[in-house]
Order: sequence, then C-alpha cells, then structure tokens
Amino acid sequence: MVGRAPPRAQRASRLAAVRVEATQATLSDVSADLRVLALADGEETPAWVGQLPGSGDVRTAFRKRALLRSPEGRTLVLGAGSADDLDAERLRVLAALAAREAREVNARSVAWALPAAADDPRATAAALVEGTVLAGFRFDRFKTRAPSEAGGAAGSPGIEALLLTDVAEPDALSATLRASRVAAEAANRTRELQSLPANVLTPTALADRARELAVEFETVNVDVLGREAIVERGMGGLAAVSSGSEQEPRLISIRYSGRGSGDVLGLVGKAVTFDSGGISIKPSAGMHEMKMDMSGGAAVIESVAAMAELGLELDVAAVVPATENMPSGTSMRPGDIITQLNGKTVEVNNTDAEGRLILADALTWCVRELGAALVVDLATLTGAVLVALGSTYSALISNDDDWASRVTEAADAAGELVWRLPLHPEYKELTRGKVADLTNSAAKRKAGTIYAGSFLEEFVDAVPWAHIDIAGTAWDTGREYVGDGPTGVGVRTLVRLAAELAG
Ligand code: BES
Ligand code: MN
Ligand code: ZN
Repeated sequence: MVGRAPPRAQRASRLAAVRVEATQATLSDVSADLRVLALADGEETPAWVGQLPGSGDVRTAFRKRALLRSPEGRTLVLGAGSADDLDAERLRVLAALAAREAREVNARSVAWALPAAADDPRATAAALVEGTVLAGFRFDRFKTRAPSEAGGAAGSPGIEALLLTDVAEPDALSATLRASRVAAEAANRTRELQSLPANVLTPTALADRARELAVEFETVNVDVLGREAIVERGMGGLAAVSSGSEQEPRLISIRYSGRGSGDVLGLVGKAVTFDSGGISIKPSAGMHEMKMDMSGGAAVIESVAAMAELGLELDVAAVVPATENMPSGTSMRPGDIITQLNGKTVEVNNTDAEGRLILADALTWCVRELGAALVVDLATLTGAVLVALGSTYSALISNDDDWASRVTEAADAAGELVWRLPLHPEYKELTRGKVADLTNSAAKRKAGTIYAGSFLEEFVDAVPWAHIDIAGTAWDTGREYVGDGPTGVGVRTLVRLAAELAG
C-alpha cells in the first residue's frame, strides 16, 4: 500500500478524568476554586451570598449568571428559571455554563450546591456530572502552539474535581455519580474519535482502539476480521463498500461478558471513516465533514468500554463494520449487484447509500454469529433525517413496540432524544429491486430515513431491533454542553439501556 505519514499530534489527548464526590456539607463551608449555586424564580438568595460584593446582580432567569468575588474565593450564581421547568436537560446546560466560567477563571476545583428546586436528587446529580464532564471536552492535539502559550481560557487544564454539596445522603448517590461520570467520559472519548481526521482514524486504527478494551478489561474479548476474511465469510456489503479503498476494512466484534442471566444485547455501529460517496461522489463543499461518518461505531465501542468499567451484569455482543467509501478503479459501481451475508441480493444503484450495505452484514453477523437477542444499531445513515428532525431528535425505527419504548426511555433519560418513525409494507415496496431482491436507494426521494430503516429490517431475522439514525445529532447540535462539534450521541443512551437490562 502507498504509505503517507499521518500528521503528528503535538500532545496526548486531553481527556483527563474529573474526580466527583458528594457531601452533606453546605456550599459556604467547603473550599473550592469556584463555588456554584443555581437559584430558581422566587428562591431566596442565601444570606452568605447576599453579603458578597456584587450580589445585587443575581438574577433567577434561566442562564443568567453573576460571578461574585470575595477574599474567600469566587462564587457563581446561576439563574435556574422556573422550578417547574428545571429538568435534567436544563441542569446539564447550567453545569456547562459553570464549567465554562471555571475554565475562564482557571478554577481546578468546583463545588456545586445540589439545587433545592430540582426534585430528584439522583437525576439532578447525574445531570450536573454529565454537563460538567461533557463541557470539559477539548480537541487541540494537532495545534502546534501549546494551549498554555495561547493563554487565557484555552490554556486552562480544566476542572479536576467536582464536589456536590448540600446532599442529604451522599452514600446513596455514589453509584449514580460513578455511572454518570463513566458514561460522560465514554462520550468524550467518542467525541475524540469523531474529531480525528480520516488519515489518522482509519478502519485499522479504530479496530486497534477496540483491541485496547480487551487488554484493559478481562471481561472483554475483541475479534477483528480483515479484507480477506470479510470476503471469504460472504459479507458482500462490507466487501463492496471497501473495495474502492487502499485502506483495509475491519469487521470488529466485541464481546462483553458481565455474567448476565438475560438476553444478549446486540449493538451495531456504522463506522465509515470517510464517506466520499464513492463513484456516486458527494459535492466537494462539506465533504470533509464525512470524517464523522464513523460516529455510530465509535459510540458503540466506547459505550461497551463504559459498561465494562461499570461492571454491568449483562452480556453484550457489539459489531462495528469499519471502512472507507472511496471512488477508484476498484470501487463498486452504480448498478452492481452484491450478495449480503444473509444471502439476499442487492442492486447498488447509489454507491453513496453505503451505510445500509455494511450494516446489513453487521446485523446478520450480530444476530446469527454472536447470538444477539435484542439489537440496537446507531448510524449516521441519512441526510434526510436532518430535514425531518434537525439536530434535536435522532430518528428511531423499530420492529418491536416494547423494545422501542425501552430504548426511548433510556434515550429520554439521557437527554439524547429520539422520535420514532414508522415501518409499513408500502415503504418495503420501495426497497424491492428490479433485478435483485433489494435496491439500496429509492428511485424517488421518498421517506429517505424510513427507506433505510426498512432496508435494514431485512437483515435482523425478526429479533427485536431498534435503529437510531444519528446523522443529525452526531455533530453540531449547538447544545450548551457539547457546542458546535462532535456530540458523542448514543453513548449515554446505550449505557443507561444496558444498566436497565442488567437490573
Ligand atoms: N453518511 C451519509 C449520511 C449523512 C448525511 C451523515 C449528513 C451525516 C450527515 C450517508 O452515507 C449518505 O450518503 N446517505 C445518502 C443516501 C442516499 C444516497 C440514498 C443521503 O442521505 O444522501
Ligand atoms: Mn454515503
Ligand atoms: Zn455514509
């Protein structure tokens, strides 16, 4: 293969862990570089805060902030808005605002008074941890100028310790604190993988990251197939999509054995490390964004890492098909007919509808070879989902109502919203091929997201399955705690779902 040196990272990635603790002590009695409290409408300013200079600036409208300085240190008062509206999402936003302020003033330790206005202490604590950890993400390892030289907020190493104060029963909260921290850190690792360019994060590099999990955890086994084995096993979709690239594809299988007694949870994640569209090439404007077309696969890998770290008592079988989609003399062509792993034939009328081809084989592998009895797949699958739902909801498509509601509940709790779209025999009709069993893209531009979901359903052998199209939510949601970059969407949903299944 033609070699080309990848860029040199200037420093290791900065995904430092945050220490998280809870205490019964009240905010005014603890020491921290920054103390934070949120006040809801009608809530009184505590007397000690009222005595600080500048306390007249305190406002309770949501997102308003007042930074009060005194000889004892800095105190940030955030407006929490109406107590009725103070849900987990708003708490994540407030935590992110505080984290940004902390960076601004170079605070390493932050103490946050658990807001009295929020009713469920567990959900409140989880949201504060998630918002703080997610807001701490930075991707600057390819900047030649060290952030410390750049000075100011960019140079701050970020928050190292988060202390939740005014907690009635700190011990009752410790499992929640740990679970939310571990899941948010896994989301940040996913965001790092999403950010890496395609000349660094190749299918091989992603497989190497998965292999690390087997070294780190005794409960994890990783098995990786290369091009030859993929072809030999009959994974016609993954073989065809990868045929245009010098980069070898990888079929990554991860087993997590948490000694569960229930069904094996199957997870499948699309990992196209670069989607040029292939011969049906994409327009050049914005094509660079397609380095993120591996977001589903990265989320699956890092969420399994989180499950292993938490020691969740369930068994998981994860499959990540990793490949580039490139045009070349060896690429698949529009019109080519391929045979998927389950024997179904597909007429490839658009090489840019590549995700469904690799997922088809991965779903079959996950169910037939790894024995998954319940399946979730995550994929940046269609541009159409951006048109339908924007960056607010991911699309959920499922063949099973119970499974769909369990997945929806986990997603809601994580604040990673999903909206279910229907399956229907009429959509199925659209996927029928003229010269093969199926065709990979619709002749008319009808229901693009459902079309893709309906196509995938052909490969799950009727086990309960939920497909989540994250093309609109993996990047650029503008949510306060993730900003305009990679979001790591899906990780916190999958970890919560697994925790629920583990019981
Ligand atoms: N990776 C894209 C989908 C995508 C679009 C992800 C925008 C993230 C942001 C996918 O492989 C694709 O190209 N889909 C095509 C399908 C079409 C050819 C049927 C699309 O949505 O245009
Ligand atoms: Mn594509
Ligand atoms: Zn794609």
